[in-house]
Amino acid sequence: MRIISTERSQVLAARIAEKLGAPLVETKFTRFPDGEMYLRCGELDKETLIVSSVVDNDMLVQTLLAIDAADQSRNTLVVPYLGYSRQDKRFFPGEPISARAVARALSTGIDRVFVVNIHDRGVLDHFGAPAKDVTIAPAVGGYIGDLHLNNPLVLAPDEGAINFAADVAAVGGWDCDHLEKTRLSGEEVRIAPKTIDAAGREVVIVDDIISTGGTLATAACMLREQGAASTHAACVHGVLTSGAYTRLRAAGVSSVVSSDTYENASSFISAANTIATAIREDAHR
Ligand code: R5P
Repeated sequence: MRIISTERSQVLAARIAEKLGAPLVETKFTRFPDGEMYLRCGELDKETLIVSSVVDNDMLVQTLLAIDAADQSRNTLVVPYLGYSRQDKRFFPGEPISARAVARALSTGIDRVFVVNIHDRGVLDHFGAPAKDVTIAPAVGGYIGDLHLNNPLVLAPDEGAINFAADVAAVGGWDCDHLEKTRLSGEEVRIAPKTIDAAGREVVIVDDIISTGGTLATAACMLREQGAASTHAACVHGVLTSGAYTRLRAAGVSSVVSSDTYENASSFISAANTIATAIREDAHR
C-alpha cells in the first residue's frame, strides 16, 4: 500500500504512513493560470491510501483529483474531517443535503472510507462504499491526562456531545456531565452543568468541532461566573474560524487543543494511531 495526501493533510498522512510502515508518495500541487487546480502523484502501486480532510472547497477538488489520479489501484479514502457534514438535513425547503452531495461525489473510485468523529453517523450511509467512523476520544483523554489537572470535570457543551465526553472521561475515570441551557428570562440564559457543581473544579469542555468558538466561549464565561477554577477546551476538529482561538483565550480558556484531522497550530493530538489501527483491523476481516 502507498499513501498520498492532499495539501492540508500532509502531517497526518506522514504519521499514518509511519504507523502502517507504508511509503508516502510525493505529490506536487500547483494551479493553472486560470486558477484551476493541478496535481501530480508519484508512482502508485496496486493499493493506495488517500488521506484528505475536506477543510475547504479547494481540498474537496484536490481530493477528487487525487482519487482520479489513483484510478489504476484499489483505493481507501481517509477523510479525517469531512467538510459540509453539519448540513446533514434539509433544514429549509430548497436546501441541499450538502453532506450527502459531498459523500456521493467522493465515492467514485473508492473501495472503502474512514472518517473521524463525524458530526452525525447517518452521513456514512451516503457514501457509495463501506464507510466507517472512528473515534479519537481515547487520544483526547490521553492529552487531558498529560495536563495533570486536579480531579478534572469533563463537560460536553450540549447533549449531542455526551457520548464523546463520556468516552474521553473514561480514560482517566474523571467526572463527566453536560451543559444545560436554562432560559431565565427573555434576555437571560444560564448555562451550567446539569448535575455537577463546577465551583472550584478544573473543567475541560470537549466537543467534536470548534468552529467560531462561540459555543465554548459562552460556556467558559458562565463556568467562570459559577466559580470554576480553570477552563480548558479540547476538540477533534479545530476549524477555528473567525478568530476562534483568540476568542476562547480572551474568554479565559486556559488551553485550546485540537487534533491533526484539521491541521493547525493547536493540533497537539494525533488521529494517526486510531486511523492506522482501524485500517489494519479492517484489512484482517
Ligand atoms: C454542533 O453541533 C457541534 O458539535 C459544535 O458544538 C459546533 O459546531 C461548534 O460551533 P462553534 O464553535 O461555532 O460554536
